[in-house]
Amino acid sequence: MIKRGKPKLEPLPAPSPGGPKHVAIIMDGNGRWATQRGRPRLFGHHSGAKRVREVVEACPDVGVEYLTIFAFSTENWKRTQVEVAGLMSLFRRYISKETRALNDRGVRVRFIGDRVKLDAKLIKLMNELEEITSHNTSVHLTIALNYGGRDEVARATKRLAQDVAQGRLDPEEIDEETLPRYLDTYVLPDPDLVIRTSGEARISNFLLWQSAYAEYEFIDTLWPDFTREEFSRLCASYGGRDRRFGGVKT
Ligand code: FPP
Repeated sequence: MIKRGKPKLEPLPAPSPGGPKHVAIIMDGNGRWATQRGRPRLFGHHSGAKRVREVVEACPDVGVEYLTIFAFSTENWKRTQVEVAGLMSLFRRYISKETRALNDRGVRVRFIGDRVKLDAKLIKLMNELEEITSHNTSVHLTIALNYGGRDEVARATKRLAQDVAQGRLDPEEIDEETLPRYLDTYVLPDPDLVIRTSGEARISNFLLWQSAYAEYEFIDTLWPDFTREEFSRLCASYGGRDRRFGGVKT
């Protein structure tokens, strides 16, 4: 029997100085990718899950410390029951299957989004993965699951209002530093670069507050075709950009 090991990966170019530390990705195009091959949409999602592993593994080589990926939006419940159930089952399987590899690679996993609508088994797996990887520091992987930027701001505002009502927060003290402390992402830096695959040029309710000063890359590649080389190239091209955050270059 021929024993097949993992294919040997070509080394990626060294990270460029000033490259992005936090990259957020809208992984779009799984459905079209599957349809082009005459396969069910879920086949595209399964293929997309393999790309997640490839990109997470490339992060240390590319100099990315924080990776945030949009796995399921608050709007995705509108899809057929078959697709939603298939995605939920994929997330459960992905977590069960990948926990060890993620932990061995020193990846710390967090989830953002509203967990209330998710099934109990998935929530348990999410909690366990967060707990098991909680001491890791090599890559911070954040998975947005039942996440919507507007929903996040609404939930944050509700908690903030409760703190005001109960006298824990003085309304006069609320400023741009206060609200982010109530967001799901409160422990994360803002993304430097947001990538969306599949040729659509919109942000679809992803990290609305956090991406105020992010650079965007809208690329035609469908998510299941996205490679570590393309990820590396996009991060390198970010390193050459002139970000002024509304100021002037000195
Ligand atoms: C958008 O493509 C993709 C999704 C709604 C799901 C993203 C999920 C994955 C990549 C699966 C794996 C993720 C994890 C964390 C295991 P689409 O279905 O909208 O594609 P289309 O626009 O071509 O229809």
